[in-house]
Amino acid sequence: MDPLAPLDRALAHARSWISSLGRRPVRPAASLESLQRAFGGPLPDRGEDPTEVLDLLAQAGEPGLMATAGPRFFGFVIGGSQPVALAADWMTSAWDQNCGLYVLSPTVAVLEETAGRWLNGLFGLPVDAGVGFVTGGQMANFTCLASARYALLGRAGWDVSEQGLFGAPEIHVVVGEEVHVTVLRSLRFLGLGQARVKRVPADAQGRMDPDALGPVLAGCNGPTLVCVQAGNVNTGAVDPMEPLIAAAHAHGAWVHVDGAFGLWGAATPSRRALLQGVEKADSWAVDAHKWLNVPYDSGVAIVREEEVLRHAMGSSASYLVRSTGLRDGVDFVPEFSRRGRGTPVYAALRALGRRGVEGLVDRCCALARRFAEGLGRAPGVQVLNEVVLNQVLVRFEPPGGGDADAFTREVITRVQAEGTCWLGGSLWKGRDVMRISVSGWNTTEEDVDRSVSAILRCARGA
Ligand SMILES: Cc1ncc(COP(=O)(O)O)c(C=O)c1O
Repeated sequence: MDPLAPLDRALAHARSWISSLGRRPVRPAASLESLQRAFGGPLPDRGEDPTEVLDLLAQAGEPGLMATAGPRFFGFVIGGSQPVALAADWMTSAWDQNCGLYVLSPTVAVLEETAGRWLNGLFGLPVDAGVGFVTGGQMANFTCLASARYALLGRAGWDVSEQGLFGAPEIHVVVGEEVHVTVLRSLRFLGLGQARVKRVPADAQGRMDPDALGPVLAGCNGPTLVCVQAGNVNTGAVDPMEPLIAAAHAHGAWVHVDGAFGLWGAATPSRRALLQGVEKADSWAVDAHKWLNVPYDSGVAIVREEEVLRHAMGSSASYLVRSTGLRDGVDFVPEFSRRGRGTPVYAALRALGRRGVEGLVDRCCALARRFAEGLGRAPGVQVLNEVVLNQVLVRFEPPGGGDADAFTREVITRVQAEGTCWLGGSLWKGRDVMRISVSGWNTTEEDVDRSVSAILRCARGA
């Protein structure tokens, strides 16, 4: 038998899955029991035919998948997969490169070097900032904050890499009231603690209040880290970068931007003003698996001073063949051995070009507004946020009056079960809301209109 036959079978299954995305109910249909029946049981003594294993994955597995890569998935903030990025991801697996060292994969080192430079250019960041390709926004935040910790303590005469945190000067950490949980989780992992942060109040859209930052900074005596946000996970709001970064820098603080999806706004002229000044920060976290529509998992950590990133991450051992002056991947990310995660990013950027990225971001923003207009026109439906990017928050009043929180939750449950589209809920300023995120390259106006109709049908109880 041809040992490569499973590759053809996987291609056939992938084609069939992808072409079904726009037709199938978005929600998974399989029960837990049926999935456990299909996939559970003991490890077989004798191996099975590889193509039959793939058939099992497709036949029993697909009913248990969410069509997140389809055109009517609007939950969380989840992009689909542009075919070129998906294909480059397959090549990444086929190449099977270990990208920790230049010597192990000169090709991927150059692809990542170039993709990093392109990203910095797209976002208007310093073109020579250091860029690491990590698994997502969580690890991008972690990597950037590890760099911040290294630099801040270094300035205070403390080498955190050698000495750890015991006896180190205290780092004051300032975050917005609306900080994303992955920033807090990173602080936890880094020994900076998630409960001892100082929180700055936010406005009705979730933007950090620049007037409130000054008094908080005044209480920070020593190394200070300020975490701002581009793209509130609920409203899409962007913190006012210019005044926040200026105040933080005047205090000598390191400013980190969590821009998991919102930083993509800086890549298009139509949204750039929203992020004005973002390039003055010290580090930035952004996802490629969100708005760039690269398959999971793909995030990017960017640090203004590449040397700081290299020192915070790098490692050495006698058997590591180092390449002076060349890009050893291990210096840019927490991982040691890893896949060539930058390759699909490179392919997506090259296939889209600058104009294509602008179009992708602009289209999602326009479709989010279309959602807001379509739903907001209906009686009893209220759009709660200013739709500045790709996020829409909607609340539903029960037709006969009553508990709008419970009714909003009920509408979300009905929409999820109905299957035309999928979206989730959240709490916004203490009120239940439906959360819509338009992040897919393949969503059309027709998909939005169909989804609006389905949501309104569910709200009417039909
Ligand atoms: C603002 C923000 N930061 C960080 C993250 C975490 O990103 P990831 O899920 O890629 O780790 C998200 C995810 O939605 C986010 O919206």
